[in-house]
Amino acid sequence: MKNIVVFTGAGISAESGIKTFRDTGGLWDEYDIKDVATPEAWERNPILVLDFYNARRKQVMEAQPNTAHKALVELEKKFNVQIITQNVDDLHERAGSKKVLHLHGEIMKARSTADPSIVHTLKSSNLLLGDKCKKGSQLRPHIVWFGELVPNMELAYLLVEKADILIVTGTSLNVHPAAGLVEYAPRDSAKYIIDPNEVNLLMEEGFTYIKKNAGNGLPELCQKLLNEK
Ligand code: OAD
Repeated sequence: MKNIVVFTGAGISAESGIKTFRDTGGLWDEYDIKDVATPEAWERNPILVLDFYNARRKQVMEAQPNTAHKALVELEKKFNVQIITQNVDDLHERAGSKKVLHLHGEIMKARSTADPSIVHTLKSSNLLLGDKCKKGSQLRPHIVWFGELVPNMELAYLLVEKADILIVTGTSLNVHPAAGLVEYAPRDSAKYIIDPNEVNLLMEEGFTYIKKNAGNGLPELCQKLLNEK
């Protein structure tokens, strides 16, 4: 079976009603990264940080996987499909994808501030000041904040190095180290990018550019790949 690695970002969940970060009207227009998505913000004002992620979590719980998430599940019929996502939502999992690696954490989880190996799955949208792990320490969102290491990066490099086909969709490729992942694809791999807006970096790197929303472009590409085999 051929290996397909799909590298996704906020754009794949846009058609499920979840805001992207850097499009006009995106989350980083509304909020300052420094106030809500850094370890310093957590030190300074944990309630603001918790409120920000509680709102994100509520939105994710109300959202449903769209045709793009679902198309990737279909692809598993004939390919070994590995998804690597910068998204913190669980829409790939809820659509039914079996292998999903999250680079920037998972919104439906919280972890102990004393022991990062203690991770809880959340049932409600609200994580509050005073919610503690079994060791008595405050729980924080299980999110990789700006300035923190990306623990799954090394594994992601290894996975991309084995790709026969790499599909990139819904990411502006602005955030490193995640954005650098595309450079690890083998030279002879087939590479596609699906995005309604041009993602500059990739134009010169042997990518086939499909200028469409993920909700249309991804099902079309997946069907083409399934027919080819
Ligand atoms: P961005 O908001 O930076 O980029 C979203 C991309 O999705 C852009 O290239 C859009 O053109 C594209 N897009 C918009 N609608 C789309 C659609 N319907 N179908 C396909 N593509 C669409 O989001 P990311 O690149 O995912 O990190 O952002 C990366 C990281 O920055 C996030 O994981 C988050 C953020 O700060 C942290 O919070 C640590």
